[in-house]
Order: sequence, then C-alpha cells, then structure tokens
Amino acid sequence: MSNKQTNNKKLLSWVDEITKMCKPENVHWCDGSEAEYNKLADQMVKNGTFTKLNDKTRPNCYLARSHPSDVARVENRTFICSNKKEDAGPTNNWADPREMKEILRKKFDGAMKGRTMYIIPFSMGPIGALASRIGIEITDSPYVVLNMKIMTRMGEKVLKALGDNGDFVPCLHSLGAPLSPGQKDSTWPCAPSIDDKFISHFPEDPAIWSYGSGYGGNALLGKKCLALRIASPVARKEGWLAEHMLILALTSPAKKTYYVAAAFPSACGKTNLAMLTPTIPGWDVKCVGDDIAWLRFGKDGRLYAINPEYGFFGVAPGTSMESNPNAMKTITKNTIFTNVGLTDDKDVWWEMMGVSAPQHQVDWKGNDWTPASKEVAAHANSRFTAPAKQCPVIDPQWESPEGVPISAFLFGGRRPSTIPLVYEARSWEHGVFIGSTIASETTAANISEQGVLRRDPFAMLPFCGYHMGDYFAHWISMAKKTDRKNLPKIYSVNWFRKSPEGKWMWPGYGENSRVLKWIVERIEGKASANETAIGFVPTAESLDVAGLKIDKNTLNDLLAVNKDNWKKEADSIEQHFKQFGDKLPSELTKELNDLRSRLN
Ligand code: GTP
Ligand code: SPV
Ligand code: MN
Repeated sequence: MSNKQTNNKKLLSWVDEITKMCKPENVHWCDGSEAEYNKLADQMVKNGTFTKLNDKTRPNCYLARSHPSDVARVENRTFICSNKKEDAGPTNNWADPREMKEILRKKFDGAMKGRTMYIIPFSMGPIGALASRIGIEITDSPYVVLNMKIMTRMGEKVLKALGDNGDFVPCLHSLGAPLSPGQKDSTWPCAPSIDDKFISHFPEDPAIWSYGSGYGGNALLGKKCLALRIASPVARKEGWLAEHMLILALTSPAKKTYYVAAAFPSACGKTNLAMLTPTIPGWDVKCVGDDIAWLRFGKDGRLYAINPEYGFFGVAPGTSMESNPNAMKTITKNTIFTNVGLTDDKDVWWEMMGVSAPQHQVDWKGNDWTPASKEVAAHANSRFTAPAKQCPVIDPQWESPEGVPISAFLFGGRRPSTIPLVYEARSWEHGVFIGSTIASETTAANISEQGVLRRDPFAMLPFCGYHMGDYFAHWISMAKKTDRKNLPKIYSVNWFRKSPEGKWMWPGYGENSRVLKWIVERIEGKASANETAIGFVPTAESLDVAGLKIDKNTLNDLLAVNKDNWKKEADSIEQHFKQFGDKLPSELTKELNDLRSRLN
C-alpha cells in the first residue's frame, strides 16, 4: 500500500483496519487529478459501467445505468446509531451502535474481494476554511470516486490540509458485491436486495458505514450523510445550522443584493430556484448552492451561509432550456449522467427536456425505447453530476470561506391545496413553526410510495441526525444568540398548488422571481400585505404579475386563506407534533394555539 502521501496516524491506522476487514485486491489513494479521473472513466467504459457520450455535443461526459433496485436513497435502510435511542428521536430509524457494527463488520468482511479499494480525501467547504470539515471516504466503487471528484474538493490537497494530526470523519462505503476469482463483474454492482442495504451513521464517533448501494446520497457520503446527518448534531452543539437548503443571491434593479436560503424537500425545486432566470426586468439571480447550507453567526450578528459542496447532483427529468436554462448550460461538458435515456447519436434525453423524443433511444434500463413505449426513458430520479463552477450564474462569492449573509429563509413543499403561493411569518418563532410543519407530496428521490402527503420538517426529515424535537429547540434558540433585527425573515412558499382539474395553478420556474421580488420588497419595507390568521399574505396589487398570463380568480385562489382548510391543517399539525412528546418546544405549542385562536 502506498501511504507516502500522509503521516496522519489516525488515517493510516483506519485504512489498515479497513483493508484487513474488507480484503480488497488493490488499494488506491486518490490524488484527485484529471489523469486519475480519465483513467478510471476509461476503465469504467471498458467494464460497461460507463458509456462515453458524443465528444462533439457532450465533451468529457458519461452515462451510467444503475441496477433497477438501486435508483434512489433508501430511507427505511438509513440508520442513526446514537448510543441512546431517544437521541435519534421518533423520526429516525435507530439501531444500537454496537449491534449495528457487529452486523456490518460481518457484511464488510471480505466485501471488497476482487476489487480496488479507493481512499478519497475530501473537504466539505473550501479547503482550509474555518467552517469546512474533512472526510475520508473509503469505497470500492470507481463511480463514487468520479462523482466525489465533482461533488467535493477532493484529493492530495485535502490530505495536505489534514496534516499529520488533523481530524476527519471516516466514511466507509462498499457496494457489497465482492468478486470471486474469474467472476465477471456486472455494470452496476450492488447488494440488490433492499434489506441488504445499510446507510448507518454513528454520530458520537462520528463515523459513517454505508453498505450495499452505489447510488447518490447512499454512496456519495460527503453529501447527506456527512454534511447533514453527521453535521447537524455537531452544529447543534457548536451553535450553528446544517441545513437542506439552496442559497441564492438576488439583486434588485437598484443593485442591492440579498442572499436567500430555502429549504424544500427532495425533488421539490431547490436546484431550479437556486439558478432561476428571472422573468421580471432588472432582477438578477446568482447561485451559491443548490442543496446544502451551513450557517453560522458572523461578527456582525447576522447568519452567514456556505455551500459545503463543489458540484450539483441534480434531477434530470423536467430540466429544459425553458425551465432551467442555467442547469442545461452547466451540463454541456464534464458531466456524469445516471439513468437517463441514450440517443442513437450518443447524447442524453429525458422526459420534459424540451426537445421532442427521438424515434429511437436506449432507456435507463438498457432497453430499446420508441415514442410508442409505455415506460419512461429516464428514471424519475435520474440525475446529472456537474461541477458548480460550470454554472453560468454561479455567484462570485460562492467559495467565500466566510459565507454570504442571509436575509430570508424560505420553506416550502409540494402542496396541492391549502398553502398559499407565499406568506411571511409573524416572528422568528412563527417562522420556526412554519419550518417545523412543512409537508410535501413524496417524490422519486426516495425508494417508497410517491405522491403521498407527509410532514417533512425543514425538509430535514430524512437528514436530521438527532431528535427532531431538539432540532426545533435549536432553531428556536437561534433568536437568543443575536439581536432579533439580525435574524433573517421567514417565508412559506408553494409553487405546487393544483386546480380541481389537476393543473399547476402557478407557472413556477422563472416566474417564481415575482415572489422573490415581493420578499425583497417586504424586507425593504415597501410591499404591502394582508395580515391573516396564518401570517402576512401579499395583497393582489403588491405581487408583480405584469406580463403574466394568469386570470384574477386563479391569483385570488393562490393568495386565499381558507379557514376551513386551515382548521384541518391545524388538526394535522397537532397530530404531527404529538410524536415529539415533551421534546416539543413550548414555543411551537404556543404558535399552534395562537394559529387556532386566530382562525376562530
Ligand atoms: P433534490 O436534488 O432531490 O434535493 O431536489 P431539488 O429540491 O433540487 O428539486 P429540483 O429543482 O431538481 O426539482 C425537482 C422537480 O421539480 C423537477 O422535475 C422540476 O422540473 C420540478 N420543479 C422545480 N421547480 C418547479 C416549479 O416552480 N414549478 C413546478 N411545477 N415544478 C417545479
Ligand atoms: C435528495 O434526495 O435530497 C438529493 C439527492 O439531493 S441525494 O444526493 O441522493 O440525497
Ligand atoms: Mn437534496
């Protein structure tokens, strides 16, 4: 084993221990170079995992097709293994850390036989920045190595920053598919049975052990596992926030820039909002991040956010030159596509890409596909992995080690009824109440039933590494750490209202800039609002709908507060809150009671 690159004792002894347990054929320390990337990509093309796309139309791009059992996160196989069960809380799958490690040691024993074990040093956040955290992922998946190179700052320079005594989060990953001598490899090795996948977190170590899946958040361990499930309890202890939020910069015609962070559940519009093209003249949006935000108080008492990631792992279906031209421009080169369609001229295609379907292509399962086919060509959770710096509207401050000051938090989800297009919270506590009650129809980002309404507090239901009631209390406590005037204002948004015929009532995408404009004008004290039972809702005149084809009734419906629906909503929130028992902050009980009395 070559270990010339580091003298870090903790790292060397951990690598030694894992090598003995997993018994790989080779060990490779990733340097993060282009040469290494290209070599592994070529190897995957030979093995059939990767198809090289047309170099003229998609230079340096590849397509991977996963095993049909391995297409999204597996929330029911994701575990928080805190020492005490109550520290994981009612919304997480808990397992005893000793028992889980015992199970997993058996799984990992010999799990990498016949394969190369890769050691990936990575930094979440700019290398060396005070807020950044180093992780080391050990994996037997070259696909993971290449995705980690795009999604994180990765390689030799991270080892250098780690130094001899630096600390890191050990992130162990195996596909769970050892090869016996002479056995032909499959193009997407994994443990095909769902019950054989384990995405386990040990917050008190801290450590991550992920077994059996090669897909997305299950396998790219810097993202949801480290930056949210492991980071969230650390953030609580240290007084900061680790959130499932996009970060965008919004500049008004008067050239004032405001940074906004927004939490929407998986596949509910973060990437789209993060890089939207405003439809209203004079307004400009730049992207800082599309999925995760780490927020701390600055010296001035305001909250500053960094995007700990280095790339986008974005949903492909629905991405088009009309809906998200900046994403389309980001993915023209140096991109890995997973589970999209492959056209005969070796380009990619997906549903609602804005170009008509080719007469023939190969679908995500590797089968011939024609427009007459009944199945989709691209899986609903098919994704692109692309470098953030390729985004044409990446914000000049996106790598700022101090982060950007946040003026507003937005919370939202897919709500076909009840929740208006936008409203403003009455106070910080009321805003936390809104965050704690987000609900959304479920999406293909998790392997489970889709389109079912569920509560997903702060869009963190699958990602909070500790008791959700303690997490709410942590959010409430932020108001005690600074002058209230420094706190971001909080808004609820909902792009997903449906008409009785099942059509979107709001055009969404670039038109969401109209809502962002109202929010900025509220911050500036300019836009008017009706004080309603649920909070401050725009007056019909205060929302800029100039040039938008929307009829008055639809607009009224989008901004209406239906008291009967909201009484039902309050009942449902009461049920939701019950599960947190005495961990539910009294402030939130009070907010629910106040809402109810305002509804009467
Ligand atoms: P994750 O990466 O899973 O965290 O998802 P995300 O929150 O970044 O969601 P994304 O922006 O990728 O959007 C997911 C799906 O919602 C895509 O198919 C989009 O086309 C669709 N979508 C995004 N914004 C809007 C909108 O304003 N209106 C409507 N109707 N659909 C939207
Ligand atoms: C999500 O599901 O919220 C994602 C995709 O962003 S994954 O990286 O798989 O978690
Ligand atoms: Mn996400």
